[in-house]
Amino acid sequence: MNLDYIAGTIQTPLPPFAVPPTVVEKLEPAERDALRAEIRTLLARENAVLVAHYYTEPALQSLAEETGGYVSDSLDMARFGHEHAARTLVVAGVRFMGETAKILNPEKRVLMPELQAECSLDLGCPPDTFSALCDQHPDRTVVVYANTSAAVKARADWMVTSGSALDVVSHLHAQGQKILWAPDKYLGDYIRKNTGADMLLWNGACIVHEEFKGHELAALRQQYPDAKVLVHPESPPSVIALADVVSSTTGLIKAVKTMSAQRFIVATDRGIFYKMQQAAPHKQLIEAPTAGNGATCRSCAHCPWMAMNGLRKLAAALRTGANEVHVPADIAARAVVPIKRLLEFSAQRQRVVYGNNDA
Ligand code: 13P
Ligand code: SF4
Repeated sequence: MNLDYIAGTIQTPLPPFAVPPTVVEKLEPAERDALRAEIRTLLARENAVLVAHYYTEPALQSLAEETGGYVSDSLDMARFGHEHAARTLVVAGVRFMGETAKILNPEKRVLMPELQAECSLDLGCPPDTFSALCDQHPDRTVVVYANTSAAVKARADWMVTSGSALDVVSHLHAQGQKILWAPDKYLGDYIRKNTGADMLLWNGACIVHEEFKGHELAALRQQYPDAKVLVHPESPPSVIALADVVSSTTGLIKAVKTMSAQRFIVATDRGIFYKMQQAAPHKQLIEAPTAGNGATCRSCAHCPWMAMNGLRKLAAALRTGANEVHVPADIAARAVVPIKRLLEFSAQRQRVVYGNNDA
């Protein structure tokens, strides 16, 4: 539990949920090579494409890249899956990512290596409690983070990701709208401070980013004064306050590539190091501290649910068709609205930024 105080959070009691230990698949080289070869064959046979999040194991990320799939953040995973012609999308990530893929592509089959790959933000925002809260605040625009269930999205006006939240909330604030935000209080607080928007915040947190420690990070930075500090905005304010760059996963990888610094302290899931190292092979990456001041870390900078994805489970899902993602049609019909709103908003922004505005 992080002790950073966030004003204006709604003190709804959150449901208890179990956090599994982080267990990474260990494979002997012979088995790993055999599974990779089998998965290649199965992807082709099933007319399937593999889309992986940056926090999954390097073995999955490299396989996605080598087979014409994609490795990215949650927004781009949704976009890529939506635009790709494959009949089956295999989503290596957590459940909300599979659900988003299915909602956007009801005609496609969506498989996941592990359907029990949850997210503490999703688990900490039950649809019924959330919906009751929305009923109490009819004057507020409901903005939810991608890390929520389909049922929560079905109740929202907008879905955002860490890479798009600032833009969307600035846009809504400029129109004079007040916001009900869920579920990540730290990301919400960061967005609120940077936009000045009137935001009521749900009291959720990511169990991985919440463990980063401001005090210990300050000490580490003194040890490496030349290092730049990169922070994902799901981290507590005491950690964000020390950042040189606060950004989504994609933004943090870009920072490693484009900044002249040779050393970076990184406050996000260490699965991202695979892509960072690929983007800047000669730069040094240091994990931000999670277990300072007598505390012990639970996830230790690696999401236990992302770690549930592995080559064995991926091969099994493709072999048998198990672990298919289903979203009830009535929920999907409502949840697709805030998701598409974001995709259209982001596409519009890109057209403006790149001067290709044909709208
Ligand atoms: P991104 O949208 O930046 O990929 O973040 C998703 C996530 O789960 C971070 O913990
Ligand atoms: Fe959820 Fe945190 Fe895991 Fe991302 S890292 S999937 S926010 S628990």
